[in-house]
Amino acid sequence: MTSRPARYPLAIIGAGALGLHFAARLAARGPVAVVARSAARAAALRAGVRVGDADFQPDAFGPDRLPEADWVIILVKAGDTADAARTALALRPRGVLSLQNGLVENVLCEACGALPVGQGITTEGAFRDADRVVPSGAGDTLLPPGFEAVADLLVAAGLRARVEPDILAARLAKLLVNVAINPLAALFRVPNGALLEVPHRALLDALVAEAWPVLRAAGLQLDEAAARERVIAVATATAANRASMLQDVLAGRRTEIDAITGALLAMAEAQGVDLPTHRAMFTLVTRLWVGLQSDITG
Ligand SMILES: NC(=O)c1ccc[n+]([C@@H]2O[C@H](COP(=O)([O-])OP(=O)(O)OC[C@H]3O[C@@H](n4cnc5c(N)ncnc54)[C@H](OP(=O)(O)O)[C@@H]3O)[C@@H](O)[C@H]2O)c1
Repeated sequence: MTSRPARYPLAIIGAGALGLHFAARLAARGPVAVVARSAARAAALRAGVRVGDADFQPDAFGPDRLPEADWVIILVKAGDTADAARTALALRPRGVLSLQNGLVENVLCEACGALPVGQGITTEGAFRDADRVVPSGAGDTLLPPGFEAVADLLVAAGLRARVEPDILAARLAKLLVNVAINPLAALFRVPNGALLEVPHRALLDALVAEAWPVLRAAGLQLDEAAARERVIAVATATAANRASMLQDVLAGRRTEIDAITGALLAMAEAQGVDLPTHRAMFTLVTRLWVGLQSDITG
């Protein structure tokens, strides 16, 4: 890195698939800092990483040598949110935005104290293929009110982004899709489209039917038919894709089941409702990961 700003307009914490995809797009328009998990990883990134069809040399930093930034976007996996939020604080930002899957806003609030925090959603897609990041489809990024400046930066980078006044409803609609598709795809190791067929379809429908009343009571703005249609539309549009939970299982990584199905189960418990099919999914996916770890450690 030869010259770098004293303070960046934006920093991204998490140099994984989506973090590097966003960073590469943003860096084409202006400075963006990328914060990796370690100094060694940051150095490797500065040497260059393939994102799509181009080489990208990000302004990458490790936790030992952090820049300042006006705004921070967190793009780590849900289980790493608390650590990433503590790193975000050290950048002295005006606000911290998560675009992660699952519900993590409470973790951000706890870690960031009085600093404005918010969780948006994105349907941009990218995956890691060995050392390369492969963008897998353009999508929409919805941000909570208060993050207009971040939306402007994303739009300037050519991404479809806007502030959504009812961000809670948008987050719950994304959660609905995630609780229906992700655990099933991970357990049966099938691409999303297979969930629309026998024998998986009955389970998909059961997961939607159980989740909908709980999410609706929490602020989801979809009636039951629209909720089912939303899930079917996503599974159809992403028929050939491997859900992120399936990718995690196949790579032996911890899944985001706590922040996805776990968040729904917590919501249901607070409403005094039991969700037996989601509880089963939670147990099975959790056991799957524990099983993978014991296979690895012998
Ligand atoms: N990929 C998609 O298409 C997509 C779409 C929508 C939403 N999302 C959501 O976006 C989030 C990120 O997904 P992803 O696919 O980009 O995951 P990913 O490829 O696993 O990337 C996460 C990155 O965060 C790094 N990290 C973990 N803890 C950190 C910390 N404390 N400080 C700095 N970096 C840290 C990880 O480093 P290590 O490699 O060292 O662990 C990894 O490089 C998830 O919540 C996911 O559900 C993803």
